[in-house]
Amino acid sequence: MNDPTTIRRLYGRRQGHKLRAGQAALVEDLLPRLQVPDDRPLETRALFGDDRPLEFEIGFGAGEHLAAQAEARPDRGFIGCEPFLNGVVGALGHIRDRGLNNVRLHMGDALTVLERLPDDSLDRVYLLHPDPWPKARHAKRRMVNPGPLDLIAAKLKPGGEFRLGTDDPTYCRWSMMVMNGRADFVWQARTATDFLTRPADWPETRYERKARRQGHEVWYFRYRLDAKTAC
Ligand SMILES: C[S@@+](CC[C@H](N)C(=O)[O-])C[C@H]1O[C@@H](n2cnc3c(N)ncnc32)[C@H](O)[C@@H]1O
Repeated sequence: MNDPTTIRRLYGRRQGHKLRAGQAALVEDLLPRLQVPDDRPLETRALFGDDRPLEFEIGFGAGEHLAAQAEARPDRGFIGCEPFLNGVVGALGHIRDRGLNNVRLHMGDALTVLERLPDDSLDRVYLLHPDPWPKARHAKRRMVNPGPLDLIAAKLKPGGEFRLGTDDPTYCRWSMMVMNGRADFVWQARTATDFLTRPADWPETRYERKARRQGHEVWYFRYRLDAKTAC
């Protein structure tokens, strides 16, 4: 990814409160069994034992959306990436409690995993409430930028879906501007209701709930990858 408009670096906390014994045990015992391998090609068959459709969540937070999607569609494989240890612990708890066997996790930068996936391998990519970086001088840190979007476009199958949710007005405007400038992604909204109302198959995330509690509006964007055209 060679894109001067995007900074490729991880920002933010990697760990919050100290883990309790049960949480530390999840990281020690369950995480190694679910971890995205770093020594093998990331093909669906190698990850899940068959050629099931694959979905990918960038920055899953505490993993409630990832787990709910995986539970709703057990015939699909899910890869979730999140650098924040306490968030990964949350996801591990959901995976254990719901007995999910169709989720793989990476504790770290989602873009490094995306880069390793074969092109045209993903049916869906989720980016829900990405860190907003509201100051203009931090715009290069935003995930919605040409570099990450080119990567997402390369890894999605034609016809695949990119879902973006945000409650940040600056990020909303920014995303519309960046996405509307692209020839490859087609916005699926026909009416305002389509992006002001959470679709039934879009489980709520922790940040979304927090935003609603604070009286913020939330925007739900769905894009279809139409063609692999250069932008
Ligand atoms: C505002 S939180 C939203 C979390 C969750 N998606 C939600 O809606 O509740 C943004 C998350 O993105 C994660 N993140 C930031 N940069 C990332 C990257 N390069 N790869 C994966 N996750 C990242 C952060 O650690 C944080 O948990």
